[in-house]
Amino acid sequence: MTLAIEPLHPLYAARLTGVDLRQPVEEAVIDDVRAAMARFAVCVISHDTPPTNEQHIAFSARLGPLERGASPKIKGTELRVPYPEIVDQSNLNDVGEIYADDDRRLAYKRANRLWHTDMSFYEVRATYSLLVGHRTPPSGADTEFTDMRAVWDALPASRKEGLEDLVVEHSYWYSRVQGGGPEPTNEERATRPPARHRLVHIHAPSRRKALYLASHASDIVGWPQDRARAVIKELMDFATQPRFVYAHKWRQGDVLIWDNLATMHRATPFDDRTFVRDMRRTTCRERAIQSGESRIV
Ligand SMILES: [Fe+2]
Repeated sequence: MTLAIEPLHPLYAARLTGVDLRQPVEEAVIDDVRAAMARFAVCVISHDTPPTNEQHIAFSARLGPLERGASPKIKGTELRVPYPEIVDQSNLNDVGEIYADDDRRLAYKRANRLWHTDMSFYEVRATYSLLVGHRTPPSGADTEFTDMRAVWDALPASRKEGLEDLVVEHSYWYSRVQGGGPEPTNEERATRPPARHRLVHIHAPSRRKALYLASHASDIVGWPQDRARAVIKELMDFATQPRFVYAHKWRQGDVLIWDNLATMHRATPFDDRTFVRDMRRTTCRERAIQSGESRIV
């Protein structure tokens, strides 16, 4: 093991030292990062200056096939960070100004304050997300996590019964509207149709069972909607109890890597009309998308 690992929470999450995304990284170190991620699911790597977009993409690509070009097409928007591998998680418009308060994109971004896991609304799910802190506001804007393997382990046996048979529908637009965003147009809605996933799965890197849930979870297949939403809410509430939560306080240059198949996360509020928060994300996925199933919109 070439990395030093400092656990940050009793159940999961760790700080890694001995890897720098701005330098060439040996394959043995990549293997160690994977091993740390299998165990801890959320890992922090700090730098005194943030990696460039190119360094961020190059490192991420070594951890799995990258998601490309899937920013939602919201009418009238251009990219501030013109790399198809990078999702701009800032509160800045395409010319680098803080969004006007009535901007639809800001309303949709605020839905990231709901507990979720990235890209569960796609058939091919996200594995790792890598979020780089380019500029962080003076207060607020922590990213909070919960470990869905620990959550599964903690569920009473009687409550686990039957859950492994359930299939859940995940919809991007469901969570956007739940988060206070406007109803999408039909054209916008068509860019991201819902996807279905098992509620309980085995997290392959650790061989542990995990719940797979998110604010995108809108329905349970074959169930009446009221009952499905009550069960989803009950499990989301159980999963997000303080005993499971690790809150990351950002510093510029931090790279936070999390495993979307083992965790949920959420952004916490900050004064997004006054302060800049410039965060950029790459996302690895379960497998490369075949031609004919491109998500480029
Ligand atoms: Fe997210």
